[in-house]
Amino acid sequence: NKHDSERICGLLETLNYKESKNISDADLVIYYTCCVRKSADDKFYGQLSSTNFKNSAKFAVGGCLAQKESKKLLERFKQIDFVFGTQNLKDLPNLLANLNGNRYSKTDMQPEFNSDLPFKRESEHKAWVAINRGCDNHCTYCVVPQVRGKEVSRKHENIISEIKTLADENVIDITLLGQNVNSYGKDLYNKPSFSSLLEKVSKTSIERIRFTTSHPKDLSEDIILVIKECENVCEHIHLPFQAGSDVILKKMGRNYSKKHYLSLISMIRRHLPKASITTDIMVGFPGETETDFNETLDLVEKSQFDQAFTFIYSKREGTPAASLKNHIDYQTKLKRFEKLVKLQNKISLKQNKKLEGATVDILVEETSKKDNKLLTGRTKTGKLVHFKSSDSLIGKIVYIKILEAKPFFLIGDSVE
Ligand code: 5AD
Ligand code: SF4
Repeated sequence: NKHDSERICGLLETLNYKESKNISDADLVIYYTCCVRKSADDKFYGQLSSTNFKNSAKFAVGGCLAQKESKKLLERFKQIDFVFGTQNLKDLPNLLANLNGNRYSKTDMQPEFNSDLPFKRESEHKAWVAINRGCDNHCTYCVVPQVRGKEVSRKHENIISEIKTLADENVIDITLLGQNVNSYGKDLYNKPSFSSLLEKVSKTSIERIRFTTSHPKDLSEDIILVIKECENVCEHIHLPFQAGSDVILKKMGRNYSKKHYLSLISMIRRHLPKASITTDIMVGFPGETETDFNETLDLVEKSQFDQAFTFIYSKREGTPAASLKNHIDYQTKLKRFEKLVKLQNKISLKQNKKLEGATVDILVEETSKKDNKLLTGRTKTGKLVHFKSSDSLIGKIVYIKILEAKPFFLIGDSVE
């Protein structure tokens, strides 16, 4: 969604729009929405009722929720001028030009990958690069295949040409993006593998190359070997496991077992002992018993993740899991969630403590949001580092000695 928003800003700039500092001054307001969990829907509805913008402002809603609920949104919220879906970014100029007091939605799925849209990056030195879009998996809890459509891969030459342009613009750090990057290429002529793409990308002059998200059923050793062999491919793998119980994994339609997941973790650690591994975990899937949940805790203990994004299962209408029996009550879900977070925070701290006393190279990203005397950057493994500096180092790679580890970040000092 962040990348799509950068595309929207880029497109609007070509139409001579300029970013407004305050929403109340804007002539055009666009909300770009998510609907993966109910909390995302609620956030949108909450913001909608609490934001004030000019009566004359045009107002559009795009993204996943717009894709799913286009008609309902137009009916319910009279202030919306138009709704556009996840694959209709390129239609924005037309939609804006043809408003004339009509209210409408455009949410048709496109067979082609629109790779030539302009974008306005949030960061000068970091960029997203989409390599595939949509998802052909059928995780039973997930609304993404409904709102993002079938998986479509972008051609090598388009990806490489965009990356070369980014390198010319002094971008240092790129993230290759897809719902499931490991299945990249299966819809293309000659079926190029993700590892062959990664190898090609590593031959460009970009200093830091990342990718997300990997799926445990498709992550293969050749990808890990590319990371091992190519200095500029970062040693960071985000590998969501969702649940530790084989019974739940089966009900989720994830197509791997706990044993297979753990074998992937061993394979990664064997080749890349210093890699950071992060994950997504969900608690409270319908029918999850205490025994199932304990399998999740066991997997967390055995995997020793650097960081985990933890979620409480959220019922999404239209997904197969929504109609399963035995939905878990909120208090039980919350109790499990808190127990999981506590365990993972302890492990995150332990993993970060391994870096105390070490010198790491970080790309400086910004002045800390909490303290303007602190600069913030990231290691190649994706860890956040804060350090004191009065110099303007943003966009530079600097060496930092780590003094103290916290569960979610590291504190360090510049090395002269
Ligand atoms: N409820 C809770 N979490 C979900 N995710 C996806 N769908 C749901 C849902 N219905 C989580 C998964 C996924 C992450 C992006 O969001 O963990 O990996
Ligand atoms: Fe959703 Fe599963 Fe596709 Fe991820 S792989 S986007 S969880 S359906």
